[in-house]
Amino acid sequence: MSAHPVIVAIDGPSGTGKSSTSKAVAARLGMGYLDTGAQYRAITWWMLSNGVDVNDPAAVAAVSGKPDIVSGTDPLAPTITVDGTDVAGPIRTPEVTGAVSAVSAVPAVRTRITELQRTIAADAPGGIVVEGRDIGTTVLPDADVKIFLTAAPEARAARRSGELKATGPGAPDLAATREALIKRDAADSGRKTSPLAKAGDATEMDTTELTLEQVISCVISVIEDAERKQ
Ligand code: DC
Repeated sequence: MSAHPVIVAIDGPSGTGKSSTSKAVAARLGMGYLDTGAQYRAITWWMLSNGVDVNDPAAVAAVSGKPDIVSGTDPLAPTITVDGTDVAGPIRTPEVTGAVSAVSAVPAVRTRITELQRTIAADAPGGIVVEGRDIGTTVLPDADVKIFLTAAPEARAARRSGELKATGPGAPDLAATREALIKRDAADSGRKTSPLAKAGDATEMDTTELTLEQVISCVISVIEDAERKQ
């Protein structure tokens, strides 16, 4: 039995199976789930909807406290609203995906969203799986379990392309998806404030050759090991 609700940080670039793994692990272990990328997408959506120049860090910083972003943490039905509006669909458009790295690089945005994330994690009675880019390094450096997922760029692009195709016609092709993904990873890893990075004490898993079920099982065994040691 755990001495306190378990906090699990799962970081890594897109296309590594992070979201599917995090949701499934949380559902199977009866824990909450927080998609921190959705929060950065939500604030980006708000900036675009309100005509803020997302390439002007000062303009973004000046209004970063305005939108009220609320995340629902049920892994079977995660939700995200901005000022009461459900934005789960709109935050996945190419416009938001193209602007999110610039918005999430602004320190005032990161401070705001990090505070939200820490509050949600502290209030999760059954523990929580938090997925993102800087969770193990910056947001929750004392997390009980830290996982860093990686995969070869080809595998990541193929997975992301499959996800996009599932959303309907007009999805970009594999080459365009690969290029966009590499560009976004470079921006997320190269930014000054809390870049995408593996925490020194994180367990790294390369998911290139693994099925989703295998990744889920590996993560659950790391969590169970940590719980035994608590
Ligand atoms: O996981 P995702 O692709 O939905 O994330 C969207 C963007 O949000 C990603 O390109 C970088 C940013 N992000 C971040 O800076 N820090 C996090 N913890 C999560 C996401």
